[in-house]
Amino acid sequence: MIRIGQAGLGNWGKNLVRNFDELAELTWLCDASAELRDQFAPRYPKVRLTAEFEELLADPDLHAVVVATPVPTHFELAKRALEAGKHVFVEKPPAMRGSEMEELLELARTRGLVLMPGHLLLYHPGVLKLKELVDSGALGEVLCVYGNRQNLGVIRSNENALWSLGVHDLSVILWLIGEEPSEVVAHGRDFLQPGVEDVVFCYLRFPSGKVAHMHLSWLDPHKMRKMTVVGKERMAVFDDMELERKITVYDKAPWEPAETYGEWRTRTGDIFSPKIPNDEPLRLECEHFLRLVADGPGDYREALDGLVVVRALDRLTESLNGR
Ligand SMILES: NC(=O)c1ccc[n+]([C@@H]2O[C@H](COP(=O)([O-])OP(=O)(O)OC[C@H]3O[C@@H](n4cnc5c(N)ncnc54)[C@H](O)[C@@H]3O)[C@@H](O)[C@H]2O)c1
Repeated sequence: MIRIGQAGLGNWGKNLVRNFDELAELTWLCDASAELRDQFAPRYPKVRLTAEFEELLADPDLHAVVVATPVPTHFELAKRALEAGKHVFVEKPPAMRGSEMEELLELARTRGLVLMPGHLLLYHPGVLKLKELVDSGALGEVLCVYGNRQNLGVIRSNENALWSLGVHDLSVILWLIGEEPSEVVAHGRDFLQPGVEDVVFCYLRFPSGKVAHMHLSWLDPHKMRKMTVVGKERMAVFDDMELERKITVYDKAPWEPAETYGEWRTRTGDIFSPKIPNDEPLRLECEHFLRLVADGPGDYREALDGLVVVRALDRLTESLNGR
């Protein structure tokens, strides 16, 4: 059984604890908050609790560490865990600079350790179906992809809408397109708190000519978690707010009849929703990490996916800041 220790027992961390407790042997829980440690102690009587990250790293029987602390601490904690010879699952984004993520990847590679960022949506059965539609050619050539992640709230003060919301859509867009953007532009406004953008619009262009867009906002009347892929033959939408119709495929496309000499028309066919399994993405993500720990890190695909996301976030932040 793989022995796991986790740092960060907050709002999201508790979901990871639940899953890893069911799937592996949870042996350490670490949080700076004494109140949280006291809450977790009776629920996990066999687990050792500490405020000191170093204490769990010093356990030679511990195989892997889960980092679910606030974003600015990810790089440092993940680095210390890798240096201590532990496999690492680190919540998204694993670092705040491309160069830091490269350092983590290098460290993991030289020590043969797993480094997996928590890009939850890449384990969502609906997103997996979208990827299958793109890769199988069912949509034809992909022209553009755009994400909508809007709601009224949750208004954060320690990270802006790009970092808090954008990291999810960016991980999906970069995975679907399979290229690093050649051009990125971000515009946004900090309406409520100085320096913390509440509304962000991002444009990305890729070497193949594909383009992508993200609208990220916690000042919006619509609760949207949607990704649209426009292909030359068909179009598909992943809508995470839908309970049953997570994916809709539109058999619609532009059409250039031979007899019209360059004049474009449009074609409209069926609209259908493929069945999507109801599996919990977080459970699939945790299982994937444990499989990597058991079988070895392989080609570091997960860490490389994380690297392109951090690099793109880094560049979008520079654009947002007008540099
Ligand atoms: N994948 C997802 O869908 C998803 C969703 C929400 C949050 N997250 C990520 O999960 C992480 C945690 O988010 P949250 O909402 O649980 O935050 P939170 O603020 O509720 O919890 C963070 C916890 O980390 C603890 N902590 C901080 N520094 C520490 C340290 N050095 N050592 C030990 N403990 C420390 C804090 O005491 C706190 O209890 C963030 O990185 C966030 O981006 C991911």
